[in-house]
Amino acid sequence: MFVDTSYNVLLWALFPLIALVSFSFLWHKQCCNKEKRKLPPGAMGFPFIGETKEFFNAQSRNQLFEEFVQPRIQKHGKIFKTRIMGSPTVVVNGAEANKFILSNEFKLVKSSWPYSTVQLMGSESIMEKDSDKHRYLRGVIGTTLGYAGLEVLVPKICSSVQLYLATNWKGEENVSLYRSTKVLTFRIVFECLLGINVEQGMLDTFERVLEGVFSPAIMFPGSKFWRAKKARVEIEKMLTKVVKEKKKEMEMEGNLLREKDGIMLLSKLVQGMMQGEISEKEVIDNVVLLVFAAHDTTSFAIAMTFKMLGQYPHCYSKLLQEHVEIMNNKKHGENLTMDDIKKMKYTWQVARESMRMFPPIFGSFRKAITDIEYEGLTIPKGWKVLWTTYGTHYNEEYFKDPLSFNPSRFEEAITPYAFVPFGGGPRLCAGYQLAKLNILIFVHYVVTQYHWFLLHPEEPVTMDPLPYPSLGMPIKISSKYA
Ligand code: HEM
Repeated sequence: MFVDTSYNVLLWALFPLIALVSFSFLWHKQCCNKEKRKLPPGAMGFPFIGETKEFFNAQSRNQLFEEFVQPRIQKHGKIFKTRIMGSPTVVVNGAEANKFILSNEFKLVKSSWPYSTVQLMGSESIMEKDSDKHRYLRGVIGTTLGYAGLEVLVPKICSSVQLYLATNWKGEENVSLYRSTKVLTFRIVFECLLGINVEQGMLDTFERVLEGVFSPAIMFPGSKFWRAKKARVEIEKMLTKVVKEKKKEMEMEGNLLREKDGIMLLSKLVQGMMQGEISEKEVIDNVVLLVFAAHDTTSFAIAMTFKMLGQYPHCYSKLLQEHVEIMNNKKHGENLTMDDIKKMKYTWQVARESMRMFPPIFGSFRKAITDIEYEGLTIPKGWKVLWTTYGTHYNEEYFKDPLSFNPSRFEEAITPYAFVPFGGGPRLCAGYQLAKLNILIFVHYVVTQYHWFLLHPEEPVTMDPLPYPSLGMPIKISSKYA
Protein backbone atom coordinates (compact mmCIF):
# COMPACT_ATOMS: atom_id res chain seq x y z
CA MET A 1 0.00 0.00 0.00
CA PHE A 2 1.29 3.51 -0.88
CA VAL A 3 2.11 5.64 2.19
CA ASP A 4 2.73 9.40 1.94
CA THR A 5 5.66 9.64 4.40
CA SER A 6 6.01 13.45 4.18
CA TYR A 7 2.38 13.82 5.28
CA ASN A 8 2.99 11.47 8.24
CA VAL A 9 6.09 13.38 9.33
CA LEU A 10 4.13 16.62 9.24
CA LEU A 11 1.36 15.07 11.31
CA TRP A 12 3.85 13.86 13.94
CA ALA A 13 5.49 17.27 14.05
CA LEU A 14 2.16 18.95 14.58
CA PHE A 15 0.93 16.39 17.15
CA PRO A 16 2.05 18.33 20.30
CA LEU A 17 0.41 21.46 18.94
CA ILE A 18 -2.86 19.65 18.12
CA ALA A 19 -2.86 18.05 21.60
CA LEU A 20 -2.26 21.42 23.25
CA VAL A 21 -5.06 23.11 21.31
CA SER A 22 -7.50 20.25 22.06
CA PHE A 23 -6.59 20.27 25.75
CA SER A 24 -7.00 24.07 25.95
CA PHE A 25 -10.37 23.77 24.20
CA LEU A 26 -11.64 21.08 26.60
CA TRP A 27 -10.32 22.93 29.63
CA HIS A 28 -11.95 26.13 28.46
CA LYS A 29 -15.23 24.27 27.83
CA GLN A 30 -15.19 22.79 31.31
CA CYS A 31 -14.47 26.21 32.86
CA CYS A 32 -17.32 27.73 30.86
CA ASN A 33 -19.63 24.92 32.01
CA LYS A 34 -18.64 25.60 35.61
CA GLU A 35 -19.27 29.30 35.09
CA LYS A 36 -22.61 28.52 33.43
CA ARG A 37 -23.55 26.23 36.30
CA LYS A 38 -25.70 28.22 38.69
CA LEU A 39 -25.87 26.96 42.26
CA PRO A 40 -29.14 27.54 44.16
CA PRO A 41 -29.18 30.75 46.24
CA GLY A 42 -28.63 30.52 50.00
CA ALA A 43 -25.97 30.77 52.70
CA MET A 44 -23.50 27.97 53.50
CA GLY A 45 -22.62 29.39 56.95
CA PHE A 46 -19.29 28.55 58.59
CA PRO A 47 -16.97 25.97 57.03
CA PHE A 48 -18.02 22.42 57.89
CA ILE A 49 -20.56 23.43 60.62
CA GLY A 50 -22.58 25.53 58.19
CA GLU A 51 -26.09 26.12 59.54
CA THR A 52 -26.24 22.88 61.57
CA LYS A 53 -26.78 24.71 64.87
CA GLU A 54 -29.73 26.70 63.51
CA PHE A 55 -31.17 23.48 62.00
CA PHE A 56 -31.02 21.49 65.26
CA ASN A 57 -32.19 24.41 67.44
CA ALA A 58 -35.27 24.79 65.28
CA GLN A 59 -35.81 21.01 65.25
CA SER A 60 -35.65 20.71 69.05
CA ARG A 61 -38.42 23.34 69.33
CA ASN A 62 -40.47 21.48 66.68
CA GLN A 63 -40.17 24.63 64.56
CA LEU A 64 -37.99 23.23 61.80
CA PHE A 65 -40.23 24.54 59.07
CA GLU A 66 -41.27 27.82 60.71
CA GLU A 67 -37.80 28.82 61.95
CA PHE A 68 -35.40 27.19 59.50
CA VAL A 69 -37.10 26.46 56.18
CA GLN A 70 -39.70 29.22 55.85
CA PRO A 71 -37.42 32.24 56.50
CA ARG A 72 -34.99 30.89 53.89
CA ILE A 73 -37.79 30.34 51.37
CA GLN A 74 -38.80 33.97 51.91
CA LYS A 75 -35.22 35.14 51.44
CA HIS A 76 -33.97 32.86 48.65
CA GLY A 77 -36.98 31.10 47.11
CA LYS A 78 -38.38 27.55 47.24
CA ILE A 79 -35.01 25.98 46.42
CA PHE A 80 -32.06 27.07 48.49
CA LYS A 81 -28.66 25.82 49.55
CA THR A 82 -27.28 25.47 53.04
CA ARG A 83 -24.80 23.28 54.86
CA ILE A 84 -26.06 20.82 57.48
CA MET A 85 -24.01 18.24 59.43
CA GLY A 86 -20.97 18.88 57.27
CA SER A 87 -22.76 18.34 53.94
CA PRO A 88 -23.65 20.96 51.37
CA THR A 89 -27.42 20.52 51.06
CA VAL A 90 -30.14 21.82 48.78
CA VAL A 91 -33.58 22.10 50.39
CA VAL A 92 -36.41 21.75 47.87
CA ASN A 93 -40.03 22.73 48.48
CA GLY A 94 -43.22 22.43 46.44
CA ALA A 95 -45.15 19.67 44.63
CA GLU A 96 -43.10 19.99 41.42
CA ALA A 97 -39.79 19.71 43.27
CA ASN A 98 -41.07 16.79 45.39
CA LYS A 99 -42.10 14.99 42.21
CA PHE A 100 -38.80 15.70 40.50
CA ILE A 101 -36.66 14.47 43.39
CA LEU A 102 -38.80 11.56 44.59
CA SER A 103 -39.55 10.09 41.18
CA ASN A 104 -35.89 10.30 40.12
CA GLU A 105 -34.72 7.94 42.88
CA PHE A 106 -31.92 5.69 41.53
CA LYS A 107 -31.58 7.89 38.37
CA LEU A 108 -30.51 11.27 39.77
CA VAL A 109 -30.57 10.72 43.53
CA LYS A 110 -30.36 7.95 46.07
CA SER A 111 -31.57 7.86 49.65
CA SER A 112 -28.99 9.08 52.10
CA TRP A 113 -29.39 8.29 55.80
CA PRO A 114 -27.06 9.45 58.58
CA TYR A 115 -24.24 7.10 59.56
CA SER A 116 -25.80 6.30 62.96
CA THR A 117 -29.14 5.34 61.34
CA VAL A 118 -27.46 2.93 58.93
CA GLN A 119 -25.36 1.45 61.75
CA LEU A 120 -28.43 0.80 63.90
CA MET A 121 -30.94 -0.22 61.23
CA GLY A 122 -28.34 -2.33 59.47
CA SER A 123 -26.53 -1.82 56.20
CA GLU A 124 -28.64 -4.52 54.49
CA SER A 125 -32.09 -3.02 55.05
CA ILE A 126 -34.36 -1.95 52.18
CA MET A 127 -33.53 1.72 52.69
CA GLU A 128 -29.92 1.02 51.69
CA LYS A 129 -30.85 -1.06 48.64
CA ASP A 130 -31.36 -0.11 45.04
CA SER A 131 -32.25 -1.78 41.72
CA ASP A 132 -32.94 -5.56 41.82
CA LYS A 133 -32.57 -6.10 45.57
CA HIS A 134 -34.81 -3.14 46.32
CA ARG A 135 -37.42 -4.47 43.86
CA TYR A 136 -37.20 -7.94 45.40
CA LEU A 137 -37.72 -6.71 48.98
CA ARG A 138 -40.58 -4.40 47.97
CA GLY A 139 -42.16 -7.37 46.20
CA VAL A 140 -42.02 -9.51 49.34
CA ILE A 141 -43.53 -6.74 51.51
CA GLY A 142 -46.03 -5.93 48.74
CA THR A 143 -47.43 -9.47 48.57
CA THR A 144 -48.11 -9.40 52.32
CA LEU A 145 -49.80 -6.01 52.05
CA GLY A 146 -51.66 -6.68 48.78
CA TYR A 147 -55.47 -6.96 48.83
CA ALA A 148 -55.53 -10.66 49.78
CA GLY A 149 -52.95 -10.03 52.52
CA LEU A 150 -54.92 -7.12 53.93
CA GLU A 151 -58.09 -9.22 54.16
CA VAL A 152 -56.15 -11.63 56.35
CA LEU A 153 -54.64 -8.81 58.39
CA VAL A 154 -57.90 -7.03 59.28
CA PRO A 155 -59.29 -9.63 61.75
CA LYS A 156 -55.82 -10.06 63.30
CA ILE A 157 -55.48 -6.33 63.92
CA CYS A 158 -59.06 -6.22 65.28
CA SER A 159 -58.24 -8.97 67.79
CA SER A 160 -54.99 -7.26 68.83
CA VAL A 161 -56.70 -3.90 69.42
CA GLN A 162 -59.64 -5.42 71.32
CA LEU A 163 -57.38 -7.55 73.49
CA TYR A 164 -55.19 -4.54 74.26
CA LEU A 165 -58.14 -2.34 75.23
CA ALA A 166 -59.72 -5.08 77.36
CA THR A 167 -56.44 -5.68 79.20
CA ASN A 168 -55.09 -2.15 79.55
CA TRP A 169 -57.98 0.32 79.37
CA LYS A 170 -60.84 -1.54 81.08
CA GLY A 171 -61.43 -0.13 84.55
CA GLU A 172 -58.94 2.74 84.05
CA GLU A 173 -59.84 6.42 84.26
CA ASN A 174 -56.73 8.00 82.74
CA VAL A 175 -54.49 6.46 80.10
CA SER A 176 -51.63 7.69 77.93
CA LEU A 177 -53.01 7.45 74.41
CA TYR A 178 -49.56 7.80 72.83
CA ARG A 179 -48.05 5.03 74.98
CA SER A 180 -50.99 2.77 74.11
CA THR A 181 -50.54 3.34 70.38
CA LYS A 182 -46.82 2.64 70.66
CA VAL A 183 -47.35 -0.69 72.41
CA LEU A 184 -50.08 -1.66 69.96
CA THR A 185 -48.22 -0.63 66.81
CA PHE A 186 -45.25 -2.67 67.98
CA ARG A 187 -47.43 -5.73 68.55
CA ILE A 188 -49.23 -5.30 65.24
CA VAL A 189 -46.00 -5.18 63.25
CA PHE A 190 -44.45 -8.12 65.10
CA GLU A 191 -47.41 -10.39 65.58
CA CYS A 192 -49.83 -9.55 62.75
CA LEU A 193 -47.38 -8.62 59.99
CA LEU A 194 -44.22 -10.59 60.72
CA GLY A 195 -45.63 -13.47 62.76
CA ILE A 196 -43.14 -13.16 65.65
CA ASN A 197 -44.42 -13.36 69.24
CA VAL A 198 -43.70 -10.29 71.34
CA GLU A 199 -41.93 -11.20 74.55
CA GLN A 200 -41.37 -9.25 77.76
CA GLY A 201 -38.80 -6.47 77.39
CA MET A 202 -38.69 -6.52 73.57
CA LEU A 203 -40.36 -3.13 73.14
CA ASP A 204 -37.94 -1.46 75.60
CA THR A 205 -34.93 -2.94 73.79
CA PHE A 206 -36.23 -1.75 70.42
CA GLU A 207 -36.97 1.70 71.80
CA ARG A 208 -33.37 1.96 73.04
CA VAL A 209 -32.23 1.32 69.46
CA LEU A 210 -34.65 3.89 68.07
CA GLU A 211 -33.41 6.53 70.55
CA GLY A 212 -29.95 6.38 68.99
CA VAL A 213 -31.00 6.37 65.36
CA PHE A 214 -30.42 10.09 64.77
CA SER A 215 -27.92 10.77 67.56
CA PRO A 216 -24.21 11.48 66.90
CA ALA A 217 -22.36 8.19 66.33
CA ILE A 218 -20.16 8.51 69.43
CA MET A 219 -19.17 5.15 70.92
CA PHE A 220 -18.61 6.55 74.42
CA PRO A 221 -19.95 4.47 77.35
CA GLY A 222 -23.30 5.97 78.36
CA SER A 223 -23.90 7.90 75.11
CA LYS A 224 -27.25 7.41 73.32
CA PHE A 225 -25.50 5.78 70.37
CA TRP A 226 -23.51 3.42 72.63
CA ARG A 227 -26.70 2.33 74.43
CA ALA A 228 -28.49 1.90 71.10
CA LYS A 229 -25.65 -0.24 69.70
CA LYS A 230 -25.77 -2.50 72.75
CA ALA A 231 -29.54 -2.88 72.34
CA ARG A 232 -29.04 -3.66 68.64
CA VAL A 233 -26.69 -6.54 69.58
CA GLU A 234 -29.39 -7.96 71.90
CA ILE A 235 -32.00 -7.69 69.13
CA GLU A 236 -29.71 -9.36 66.63
CA LYS A 237 -29.20 -12.29 69.02
CA MET A 238 -32.94 -12.63 69.55
CA LEU A 239 -33.80 -12.36 65.83
CA THR A 240 -31.04 -14.75 64.76
CA LYS A 241 -32.63 -17.38 67.01
CA VAL A 242 -36.11 -16.64 65.62
CA VAL A 243 -34.88 -16.85 62.00
CA LYS A 244 -33.05 -20.15 62.63
CA GLU A 245 -36.13 -21.67 64.27
CA LYS A 246 -38.35 -20.55 61.38
CA LYS A 247 -35.87 -22.02 58.89
CA LYS A 248 -35.83 -25.34 60.75
CA GLU A 249 -39.63 -25.41 60.89
CA MET A 250 -39.86 -24.75 57.16
CA GLU A 251 -37.20 -27.34 56.32
CA MET A 252 -39.18 -29.94 58.26
CA GLU A 253 -42.21 -29.07 56.17
CA GLY A 254 -40.25 -29.39 52.92
CA ASN A 255 -39.65 -25.61 52.51
CA LEU A 256 -43.38 -25.06 52.17
CA LEU A 257 -45.11 -22.00 53.49
CA ARG A 258 -48.02 -23.44 55.41
CA GLU A 259 -49.40 -21.09 58.01
CA LYS A 260 -52.97 -21.65 58.96
CA ASP A 261 -53.82 -17.96 59.35
CA GLY A 262 -52.08 -16.49 56.30
CA ILE A 263 -48.44 -16.44 55.26
CA MET A 264 -46.48 -14.12 57.51
CA LEU A 265 -43.80 -11.75 56.30
CA LEU A 266 -41.04 -13.44 58.31
CA SER A 267 -41.78 -16.76 56.57
CA LYS A 268 -41.57 -15.07 53.18
CA LEU A 269 -38.23 -13.49 54.06
CA VAL A 270 -36.86 -16.78 55.39
CA GLN A 271 -38.08 -18.54 52.26
CA GLY A 272 -36.14 -15.96 50.21
CA MET A 273 -33.10 -16.77 52.33
CA MET A 274 -33.50 -20.52 51.77
CA GLN A 275 -33.78 -19.95 48.04
CA GLY A 276 -30.56 -17.92 48.10
CA GLU A 277 -32.24 -14.61 47.20
CA ILE A 278 -31.28 -12.87 50.44
CA SER A 279 -28.89 -13.48 53.33
CA GLU A 280 -29.66 -14.01 57.03
CA LYS A 281 -28.34 -10.50 57.72
CA GLU A 282 -30.75 -9.10 55.14
CA VAL A 283 -33.67 -10.84 56.88
CA ILE A 284 -32.67 -9.46 60.28
CA ASP A 285 -31.89 -5.92 59.10
CA ASN A 286 -35.23 -5.70 57.31
CA VAL A 287 -37.17 -6.86 60.36
CA VAL A 288 -35.47 -4.12 62.42
CA LEU A 289 -36.15 -1.56 59.67
CA LEU A 290 -39.85 -2.43 59.44
CA VAL A 291 -40.30 -1.94 63.16
CA PHE A 292 -38.40 1.36 63.00
CA ALA A 293 -40.41 2.58 59.98
CA ALA A 294 -43.77 1.67 61.51
CA HIS A 295 -43.38 2.48 65.18
CA ASP A 296 -43.18 6.20 65.93
CA THR A 297 -44.84 7.20 62.64
CA THR A 298 -48.11 5.28 63.08
CA SER A 299 -48.33 6.05 66.82
CA PHE A 300 -47.91 9.76 66.15
CA ALA A 301 -50.47 9.72 63.32
CA ILE A 302 -53.05 8.10 65.63
CA ALA A 303 -52.26 10.50 68.47
CA MET A 304 -52.69 13.56 66.21
CA THR A 305 -55.98 12.18 64.84
CA PHE A 306 -57.32 12.04 68.40
CA LYS A 307 -55.91 15.49 69.19
CA MET A 308 -57.85 16.94 66.26
CA LEU A 309 -61.03 14.99 67.12
CA GLY A 310 -60.77 16.32 70.68
CA GLN A 311 -60.46 19.89 69.41
CA TYR A 312 -63.15 19.74 66.69
CA PRO A 313 -66.35 18.26 68.21
CA HIS A 314 -68.39 18.65 65.00
CA CYS A 315 -65.81 16.48 63.14
CA TYR A 316 -65.95 13.99 65.99
CA SER A 317 -69.78 13.69 65.80
CA LYS A 318 -69.60 13.03 62.05
CA LEU A 319 -66.84 10.44 62.50
CA LEU A 320 -68.66 8.74 65.38
CA GLN A 321 -71.80 8.38 63.29
CA GLU A 322 -69.77 6.57 60.60
CA HIS A 323 -68.52 4.04 63.17
CA VAL A 324 -71.85 3.54 64.94
CA GLU A 325 -73.44 2.68 61.57
CA ILE A 326 -70.70 0.13 60.86
CA MET A 327 -71.03 -1.34 64.37
CA ASN A 328 -74.84 -1.58 64.13
CA ASN A 329 -74.49 -3.76 61.05
CA LYS A 330 -72.32 -6.30 62.87
CA LYS A 331 -73.21 -9.11 65.23
CA HIS A 332 -71.89 -8.85 68.79
CA GLY A 333 -68.17 -9.77 68.82
CA GLU A 334 -67.92 -10.00 65.02
CA ASN A 335 -64.66 -8.64 63.59
CA LEU A 336 -64.47 -5.90 60.97
CA THR A 337 -63.87 -6.81 57.32
CA MET A 338 -62.25 -4.98 54.41
CA ASP A 339 -65.76 -3.88 53.35
CA ASP A 340 -66.22 -2.17 56.72
CA ILE A 341 -62.81 -0.51 56.37
CA LYS A 342 -63.85 0.88 52.97
CA LYS A 343 -66.85 2.52 54.64
CA MET A 344 -64.58 4.56 56.92
CA LYS A 345 -64.21 7.31 54.32
CA TYR A 346 -64.65 10.29 56.62
CA THR A 347 -62.33 8.79 59.25
CA TRP A 348 -59.61 8.44 56.63
CA GLN A 349 -60.16 12.08 55.65
CA VAL A 350 -59.74 13.07 59.31
CA ALA A 351 -56.57 10.97 59.60
CA ARG A 352 -55.13 12.42 56.37
CA GLU A 353 -55.93 15.98 57.40
CA SER A 354 -54.23 15.30 60.77
CA MET A 355 -51.15 13.97 58.92
CA ARG A 356 -51.21 17.02 56.66
CA MET A 357 -51.04 19.32 59.66
CA PHE A 358 -48.77 17.07 61.74
CA PRO A 359 -46.73 14.95 59.32
CA PRO A 360 -44.96 12.14 61.24
CA ILE A 361 -41.94 12.55 58.93
CA PHE A 362 -40.54 16.04 58.29
CA GLY A 363 -39.00 14.96 54.98
CA SER A 364 -35.89 13.01 54.14
CA PHE A 365 -32.45 13.28 52.65
CA ARG A 366 -31.24 12.19 49.25
CA LYS A 367 -27.79 12.42 47.67
CA ALA A 368 -27.22 13.63 44.08
CA ILE A 369 -25.52 10.80 42.14
CA THR A 370 -24.86 13.09 39.19
CA ASP A 371 -24.97 16.85 38.55
CA ILE A 372 -28.68 17.70 38.54
CA GLU A 373 -30.14 20.54 36.50
CA TYR A 374 -33.44 21.78 37.87
CA GLU A 375 -35.20 25.05 37.05
CA GLY A 376 -32.00 26.63 35.73
CA LEU A 377 -30.07 25.66 38.88
CA THR A 378 -27.44 22.98 39.38
CA ILE A 379 -27.36 20.61 42.31
CA PRO A 380 -23.77 19.29 42.12
CA LYS A 381 -23.04 15.57 42.30
CA GLY A 382 -22.42 14.49 45.91
CA TRP A 383 -24.55 17.23 47.49
CA LYS A 384 -27.47 16.27 49.71
CA VAL A 385 -31.06 17.12 48.86
CA LEU A 386 -33.73 17.53 51.54
CA TRP A 387 -37.38 17.29 50.42
CA THR A 388 -40.01 18.27 52.96
CA THR A 389 -43.63 17.47 53.71
CA TYR A 390 -44.20 20.91 55.24
CA GLY A 391 -43.13 22.70 52.05
CA THR A 392 -46.42 21.65 50.44
CA HIS A 393 -48.68 20.73 53.38
CA TYR A 394 -48.68 24.33 54.63
CA ASN A 395 -48.75 26.00 51.24
CA GLU A 396 -51.86 27.97 50.23
CA GLU A 397 -51.14 27.02 46.59
CA TYR A 398 -52.15 23.41 47.29
CA PHE A 399 -54.28 23.60 50.45
CA LYS A 400 -56.63 26.54 50.81
CA ASP A 401 -56.45 28.12 54.28
CA PRO A 402 -53.69 25.65 55.29
CA LEU A 403 -53.78 26.46 59.01
CA SER A 404 -57.40 25.39 59.41
CA PHE A 405 -58.37 21.78 60.11
CA ASN A 406 -60.74 20.75 57.33
CA PRO A 407 -60.96 16.97 56.62
CA SER A 408 -63.49 17.57 53.80
CA ARG A 409 -60.75 19.10 51.64
CA PHE A 410 -59.83 15.46 50.85
CA GLU A 411 -63.17 15.02 49.05
CA GLU A 412 -61.55 16.84 46.15
CA ALA A 413 -58.52 15.80 44.12
CA ILE A 414 -55.20 16.93 45.58
CA THR A 415 -52.30 18.07 43.38
CA PRO A 416 -49.95 15.09 42.90
CA TYR A 417 -46.95 15.21 45.28
CA ALA A 418 -48.55 17.97 47.40
CA PHE A 419 -49.78 15.57 50.12
CA VAL A 420 -46.72 13.50 50.90
CA PRO A 421 -46.78 12.12 54.49
CA PHE A 422 -45.86 8.74 52.98
CA GLY A 423 -43.29 10.13 50.53
CA GLY A 424 -43.56 9.21 46.84
CA GLY A 425 -41.85 7.57 43.86
CA PRO A 426 -40.03 4.23 44.12
CA ARG A 427 -39.53 4.72 47.87
CA LEU A 428 -43.15 5.50 48.67
CA CYS A 429 -43.89 4.06 52.12
CA ALA A 430 -44.06 0.27 51.77
CA GLY A 431 -46.28 0.00 54.86
CA TYR A 432 -48.87 2.60 53.83
CA GLN A 433 -51.74 0.07 53.82
CA LEU A 434 -50.80 -1.38 57.18
CA ALA A 435 -50.59 2.11 58.70
CA LYS A 436 -54.06 2.89 57.30
CA LEU A 437 -55.58 -0.28 58.79
CA ASN A 438 -53.86 0.31 62.10
CA ILE A 439 -55.22 3.87 62.36
CA LEU A 440 -58.79 3.10 61.22
CA ILE A 441 -59.26 -0.04 63.33
CA PHE A 442 -57.88 1.61 66.47
CA VAL A 443 -60.17 4.63 66.00
CA HIS A 444 -63.17 2.30 65.46
CA TYR A 445 -62.80 0.39 68.72
CA VAL A 446 -61.93 3.41 70.85
CA VAL A 447 -64.81 5.61 69.68
CA THR A 448 -67.42 2.83 69.77
CA GLN A 449 -66.37 1.49 73.18
CA TYR A 450 -65.24 4.58 75.12
CA HIS A 451 -66.21 8.11 76.04
CA TRP A 452 -62.94 9.99 76.10
CA PHE A 453 -61.53 13.51 76.27
CA LEU A 454 -58.11 15.08 76.08
CA LEU A 455 -56.72 16.09 79.47
CA HIS A 456 -54.42 18.69 77.84
CA PRO A 457 -55.99 19.83 74.55
CA GLU A 458 -53.13 22.29 73.95
CA GLU A 459 -50.37 19.76 74.71
CA PRO A 460 -47.31 20.79 72.67
CA VAL A 461 -45.62 18.49 70.17
CA THR A 462 -41.89 17.96 70.76
CA MET A 463 -39.32 16.58 68.34
CA ASP A 464 -36.48 14.25 69.34
CA PRO A 465 -35.82 13.74 66.45
CA LEU A 466 -39.28 12.48 65.42
CA PRO A 467 -42.34 14.35 66.69
CA TYR A 468 -44.36 13.18 69.71
CA PRO A 469 -46.92 14.69 72.11
CA SER A 470 -44.76 16.01 74.95
CA LEU A 471 -46.92 14.64 77.80
CA GLY A 472 -47.75 11.32 76.12
CA MET A 473 -51.29 12.57 75.41
CA PRO A 474 -53.13 11.61 78.60
CA ILE A 475 -56.88 11.13 78.09
CA LYS A 476 -59.76 10.53 80.48
CA ILE A 477 -61.84 7.49 79.54
CA SER A 478 -65.02 5.72 80.60
CA SER A 479 -66.53 2.62 79.03
CA LYS A 480 -69.78 3.11 77.05
CA TYR A 481 -71.01 -0.29 78.26
CA ALA A 482 -70.08 -0.26 81.94
C1 HEM B 1 -48.41 6.83 59.51
C2 HEM B 1 -47.45 5.95 59.37
C3 HEM B 1 -46.30 6.04 58.41
C4 HEM B 1 -45.76 7.14 57.79
C5 HEM B 1 -46.20 8.58 57.91
C6 HEM B 1 -44.66 6.66 56.97
C7 HEM B 1 -43.88 7.48 56.17
C8 HEM B 1 -42.90 7.01 55.32
C9 HEM B 1 -42.14 7.85 54.42
C10 HEM B 1 -42.26 9.36 54.28
C11 HEM B 1 -41.31 7.03 53.73
C12 HEM B 1 -40.34 7.45 52.62
C13 HEM B 1 -39.01 7.87 53.18
C14 HEM B 1 -38.12 8.42 52.10
O1 HEM B 1 -38.58 8.84 51.04
O2 HEM B 1 -36.90 8.47 52.35
C15 HEM B 1 -41.50 5.68 54.20
C16 HEM B 1 -40.81 4.57 53.75
C17 HEM B 1 -40.99 3.31 54.24
N1 HEM B 1 -41.95 2.90 55.13
FE1 HEM B 1 -43.34 4.07 56.03
N2 HEM B 1 -44.56 5.30 57.11
C18 HEM B 1 -45.55 4.88 57.97
C19 HEM B 1 -45.81 3.58 58.37
C20 HEM B 1 -45.13 2.47 57.93
C21 HEM B 1 -45.42 1.11 58.31
C22 HEM B 1 -46.58 0.66 59.20
C23 HEM B 1 -44.49 0.31 57.70
C24 HEM B 1 -44.33 -1.19 57.70
C25 HEM B 1 -44.55 -1.99 58.63
C26 HEM B 1 -43.62 1.18 56.92
C27 HEM B 1 -42.57 0.73 56.15
C28 HEM B 1 -41.81 1.55 55.33
C29 HEM B 1 -40.69 1.05 54.55
C30 HEM B 1 -40.20 -0.39 54.47
C31 HEM B 1 -40.17 2.16 53.87
C32 HEM B 1 -38.97 2.17 52.93
C33 HEM B 1 -39.43 1.99 51.51
C34 HEM B 1 -38.28 1.93 50.50
O3 HEM B 1 -37.16 2.34 50.81
O4 HEM B 1 -38.56 1.47 49.40
N3 HEM B 1 -44.03 2.47 57.09
N4 HEM B 1 -42.50 5.69 55.16
